[in-house]
Amino acid sequence: MNTSTPTVAFDSSAIRKQFPILQREVYGKSLIYFDNGATAQKPESVIKAIDRYYTLENANIHRGVHHLSQIATEAYETARKTIAAYINSPSSEEVLFTKGTTDGINLVAFSLGETLKAGDEIIISAMEHHSNIVPWQMLCERKSCILKVIPIHQNGELDLDAYSQLLNEKTKLVAVTHISNTLGTINPVKRMIQMAHLVGAKVLIDGAQSIQHQKVDVRDLDCDFFVFSGHKVFGPTGVGILYGKKEILEELPPYQGGGDMIAKVTFEKTTYNELPHKFEAGTPHISGGICLGKAFEFLSELDMDEVAAYEHELLKYAEEQLEQFEGLHIIGTAKNKTSVLSFVVDGIHPFDIGTLLDKQGIAVRTGHHCTQPLMDFYGIPGTVRASFAFYNTKEEIDVFVAALRRTLNIIG
Ligand code: ALA
Repeated sequence: MNTSTPTVAFDSSAIRKQFPILQREVYGKSLIYFDNGATAQKPESVIKAIDRYYTLENANIHRGVHHLSQIATEAYETARKTIAAYINSPSSEEVLFTKGTTDGINLVAFSLGETLKAGDEIIISAMEHHSNIVPWQMLCERKSCILKVIPIHQNGELDLDAYSQLLNEKTKLVAVTHISNTLGTINPVKRMIQMAHLVGAKVLIDGAQSIQHQKVDVRDLDCDFFVFSGHKVFGPTGVGILYGKKEILEELPPYQGGGDMIAKVTFEKTTYNELPHKFEAGTPHISGGICLGKAFEFLSELDMDEVAAYEHELLKYAEEQLEQFEGLHIIGTAKNKTSVLSFVVDGIHPFDIGTLLDKQGIAVRTGHHCTQPLMDFYGIPGTVRASFAFYNTKEEIDVFVAALRRTLNIIG
């Protein structure tokens, strides 16, 4: 059998046809898009929905009695329900629209932060994206709280013994990534949530790199907060989701003040709107929310177990070939990994590799991937990162491997 033939049931060729950008060329070569960790491409259904919204339905929501406003409101709230059902949220009130993962984390850092006091502890991990580090550092400075960091092993797995040592009755929040954007490590978050709950801590899961690769069920995880970005799940940029347990969101103060988040305003006192609107001040990214709903309709058609198996096969196929390159080191070799492949090559800067791959039509990300402390841990300035989605293929990996060989011959 040809080793390029997928052995799992998933049919990427049918899927690819739904992503128009995959048909284009870059520098006269067929585009190979391996930068899905940074942002994913959009299916036709999402692109058409953006066009349709601005052509036929554009109006502000929750505010007008007129026809267009009602249509836009209905579409926006339907999207919220679609997303709530997809992540198995008990209700759509617990699904808040945000600007993205960073915004969702900052919301929790501000609102939950208001309930913390000096000496309270927050735990993050050594593999967090800057967006799951800096908001907690800012909170700790504001409230004199203490930030603790779960260390990792050399292979990119969390040190769970150290985690259990860090947890204590002062721990108020654990904020940890579901899947590392740099290493691909899939963290055992369900177990980590159980451990945190035993000491009474709440848990925020950064799902920016997980929900596009595997089924997410917030009830099964029992997380208190789950955040992700629309653009990494085949939806638009500038929109994302914060899921939060209702009883917690109801207790927290609002993040921002303004229109839509109020019940009644007088100069003496303002009362706040019900969930989810209490946390959604101002006119939101309406088309973004609606089209994120379309992205989840698209995802609902897929079997995410098949997707995960297919992407895992892509990862293994690429890893096996890269392991043949002398002086190339894969960064992130956890047992449980998603389709993120970071590597460095002795004596060559990742940027130079990325630049030459680009000239051959191949998009990868190079640099620190917004995980500078992780780069310090490995003692490297950055990596080359190829991150695969379900529309990528083994044939593309063959082209990538040949291009990498040419690249290293030129600059090696
Ligand atoms: N967080 C995104 C990435 O990992 C931008 O590339």
